[in-house]
Amino acid sequence: MCGIIGYAGPRNAQEVILDGLKRLEYRGYDSAGVAIVGRSLEIYKEKGEISKLASSMPSLDGHLGVGHTRWATCGQPSKMNAHPFLDCKGRIAVVHNGIIENHQALRKQLVEEGHVFTSETDTEVLVHLLEKHYKGDLHAALRETLREVKGTYATVALHVDSHQLVAARKENPLVVGLGHGENLFASDVTAILNYTNKALYIMDGETVVLDPQNVTIYDHEGRIVEREPHVVTWTVEDAQKGGYEHYMLKEIFEQPTAIHNSLLGSLEELENGSLMVDQDVPSVKLVACGTSYHASMVGKYIIEALAKIPTTVELASEYRYSPGTGENPLTVMLTQSGETADTLAAAREARRRGCRTLAVTNVVGSTIAREVDSVFYTNAGPEIGVAATKTYTAQLMAMYLLGIRLAQIRHAMGRDEVRELTSDLRGMPRYVGSVLDRSQQVNEAVDMLVPAQDVFFLGRNINYPTMLEGALKLKEISYIHAEGYAAGELKHGPLALLTKSTPVVAACVKDHTYEKMISNISEVAARNSPILAIGVEGDTDLAAVSDAIVYIPPISPILSPVPLTVMVQLISYYTAKKRGCPIDKPRNLAKSVTVD
Ligand code: AGP
Repeated sequence: MCGIIGYAGPRNAQEVILDGLKRLEYRGYDSAGVAIVGRSLEIYKEKGEISKLASSMPSLDGHLGVGHTRWATCGQPSKMNAHPFLDCKGRIAVVHNGIIENHQALRKQLVEEGHVFTSETDTEVLVHLLEKHYKGDLHAALRETLREVKGTYATVALHVDSHQLVAARKENPLVVGLGHGENLFASDVTAILNYTNKALYIMDGETVVLDPQNVTIYDHEGRIVEREPHVVTWTVEDAQKGGYEHYMLKEIFEQPTAIHNSLLGSLEELENGSLMVDQDVPSVKLVACGTSYHASMVGKYIIEALAKIPTTVELASEYRYSPGTGENPLTVMLTQSGETADTLAAAREARRRGCRTLAVTNVVGSTIAREVDSVFYTNAGPEIGVAATKTYTAQLMAMYLLGIRLAQIRHAMGRDEVRELTSDLRGMPRYVGSVLDRSQQVNEAVDMLVPAQDVFFLGRNINYPTMLEGALKLKEISYIHAEGYAAGELKHGPLALLTKSTPVVAACVKDHTYEKMISNISEVAARNSPILAIGVEGDTDLAAVSDAIVYIPPISPILSPVPLTVMVQLISYYTAKKRGCPIDKPRNLAKSVTVD
């Protein structure tokens, strides 16, 4: 995915666009560029981060422009392949997020017609098609262009002779920010919050014409669409670092608040029976990617334990191509961004199969909300760090709420049990706060991981997925190869890899697997692997078989994934920091993956 921004208004367009690009940088950061209309159309691009682009540009005087930060899909990360692209006469500029699937055929045809291409990207066909169809009306040219294009896009274009920006959307996010005498386009609301909290979410198939005073949305047949703006509740401060060295650390420390907010209102809805689902279901399927997939795996344990409903978990990228069984489980899509291409496709597939669909997402106005029957918003606030943290623990809260709700409907839990569990959930911000209070101890304990090339994360039962999540966090931000394993599986192969230079992080809570976990840890100790244990406060037996130990507060085992997750997030963060890694912008990754 990429980040796009467009501005029309009285401010200096270059400043607004560079500011917006910095806020969108988490979406992609291998190259960036801006195009500004001043006395002429000026364009600047750089390979690398936005700061490099900003320092290499002169000050430009113009009030209309577009900008782009790229996550390469088609064509190497390079200055040449950075957006915006210009037409042959240098009068039209285009930025694009998505994939033009028929770009090769279009490029061939355009080259035969005399157009000169300067990049390897799919996007460049858009600007040459606009040039071909432009007869004084850029919006008309855009509509003609889209007729020839197959693929997905959020795209914004400008012409040097006009004071307008035109845009289109298909399966990639695009938001309009409505200001006073100024308007903006952006890939998400974090880039418009400095100027306005009024947003119009553009839908698939729509095109838009925007100038400083007016925004007109057209449907796919060219009819004007009336839409009320949405008032965004996130603030500028929510989307800034607030004194923390990295967004990831800030977001880890925001978890008590994020968890509190994710419960806000939901517990009342749970009490009055209006939360998420309204009828009993024979089975549940949870579908997601990456970290959200791990939340789904925890969700399976929760739903089966609380509601006794058979639950399966599938990767969205597999589910969408699977044969299906003819059964119709309640199909729940977990996606913090609401924009992951595989998860969106899975939602469409689930509906095609006739399943009732529910989405759990953090982003109001995201595409997933339009692909499902009902939505639960996790309300964790904006997450900028590429590594998901607070949105994950908020997803876990959603899984507890869903488990309790399903249990209520089929009377699988008594009133007292529900009351006890919801009261514990209310206390979750305190449990998490107590883990955060120990961050200095974690910082010291990770020294054994810092020089490692390989690390194993072991857990059992509901905390097996917690340790898969720990391994994913560590590899994505520290570049250490890490594997999460169900501790009982170690002896079936991976034990062969353990040596004194292969540290093992082991989670061990006081549940029915405790004794087994202690024996698994002892097996590891016998191979001389250094052990960093995560245990429940006061567990001296665990301390005795480990080289270092960090503690979570005593908590009911079913709720332990939340504080344990915060612990593995801190372990990963401090390890990556000590290795000097670019924590908020890990190489080759982007915050949400809108390609499949
Ligand atoms: C998380 O740290 C990862 N960056 C990634 O695995 C992510 O969880 C995955 O791409 C799914 O994203 P989503 O929740 O926005 O759908």
